[in-house]
Amino acid sequence: MNIPVPNTIVQKAIDELQIKNFSKATIREVVAIAGKIEQQAGVEFIHMEMGVPGLPPAAVGVKAEIEALQKGVASIYPIIDGLPALKKEASRFIKAFIDLDISPEGCVPVVGSMQGTFTSFLVSGQCDEKRDTILFIDPGFPVQKQQAVVLGYKYASFDVYDFRGELLKDKLESYLSKGNISCIIYSNPNNPAWFCLQEKELQIIGELATKYDVVVLEDLAYFAMDFRKDLGTPFQAPFQASVGRYTDNYLLLISGSKAFSYAGQRIGVVAMSDSLYKRSYPGLTRRYGGGTFGSVFIHRALYAISSGTSHSGQYALAAMFQAASDGDFHFLEEVKEYGRRAKRMKEIFLKHGFEIVYDNDLGEEIADGFYFTIRYPGMSGGELMAALIPYGISAISLSTTGSNQEGLRACTSFIKDHQYDLLDERLEAFKAKT
Ligand SMILES: Cc1ncc(COP(=O)(O)O)c(C=O)c1O
Repeated sequence: MNIPVPNTIVQKAIDELQIKNFSKATIREVVAIAGKIEQQAGVEFIHMEMGVPGLPPAAVGVKAEIEALQKGVASIYPIIDGLPALKKEASRFIKAFIDLDISPEGCVPVVGSMQGTFTSFLVSGQCDEKRDTILFIDPGFPVQKQQAVVLGYKYASFDVYDFRGELLKDKLESYLSKGNISCIIYSNPNNPAWFCLQEKELQIIGELATKYDVVVLEDLAYFAMDFRKDLGTPFQAPFQASVGRYTDNYLLLISGSKAFSYAGQRIGVVAMSDSLYKRSYPGLTRRYGGGTFGSVFIHRALYAISSGTSHSGQYALAAMFQAASDGDFHFLEEVKEYGRRAKRMKEIFLKHGFEIVYDNDLGEEIADGFYFTIRYPGMSGGELMAALIPYGISAISLSTTGSNQEGLRACTSFIKDHQYDLLDERLEAFKAKT
């Protein structure tokens, strides 16, 4: 097989978009360059850059949302605290699949987890003015750092690659002991690397969060998608791992986007521990004249930002939570497709000399899921990306995610059935010429 895209077309697209260094190219830039080349060369791309759900939305949500719209909810402002049915079902869903007790009061709908992290960063950073820095356990979701920049907060971060297990303790403590950290954020399963922090590690994070009095933001965007375990039976172990077993200073970010393929409606839930919800902080009292973490979050911050979340979307999420907790909607069965795709794609990459970068969780091989990470011996992440583009393969460099490793993040959500053979052929050609 020849290189599918002529060099002149690749170069023209790079020049037009002024991409000087592929290691710094954002997802949007990669989408743009792949799109341009597809158009000009007429070559189909294997898109691995975008983390967009590639499955139909959960039908139970769509039905509930249509019914709500037909009843006229669109004309009425939703309560900022959230629809009582959604609050109740969110609390029940958390009990069913994480085995944590969080009162409905602390379960608050947000315009996607994105608004959830933005508001959580905002309020955590106002609790104590000495705590002006957010700590990211990286690699992570780049736009969350953008949120910190928009808010004017400082951030610190480290790549957890070399600090798994017991090593996490000293590393975390080296940041927390400075006294300037307001909150810690990580995603589990991890975007971009799909490792899952294990109970032992969550215990370290939780205990240190209590010791140094910082808030933990546990981003569960890929809720229960560690497909090595059967996390899909409500009210029955095993459960989604959570820091909530080890500290009271936590909030969970549960997104409708990936677990329910509901990204377009921008709906998720922030669930604050009962203790965090009720706690008052001097910084909040000074700024707002009173209030607790929970009431400031809802009635000050969310009120000012968006005055609540789409009414019909809340009906959808309430119905999906309810059906999942009742055992009528096996949401994980639908998204297991990502795991099947990852398995096939990884096999093809490994066959052609690639390696998985973040390949294990404390010795256990990582799960197959929404993302995986790859490297090719002797190439930096930026070089690898530049080298794959002429073969019609696009991904993002790990360096844009706060990782210190050289490699790429591959997303499984856009791969189409006929593209496995295409990937195999193209990587065969890549290997032969590299
Ligand atoms: C780790 C992580 N957090 C949050 C989000 C965004 O979630 P939402 O669509 O609910 O805003 C994503 C989406 O890709 C993600 O990967």
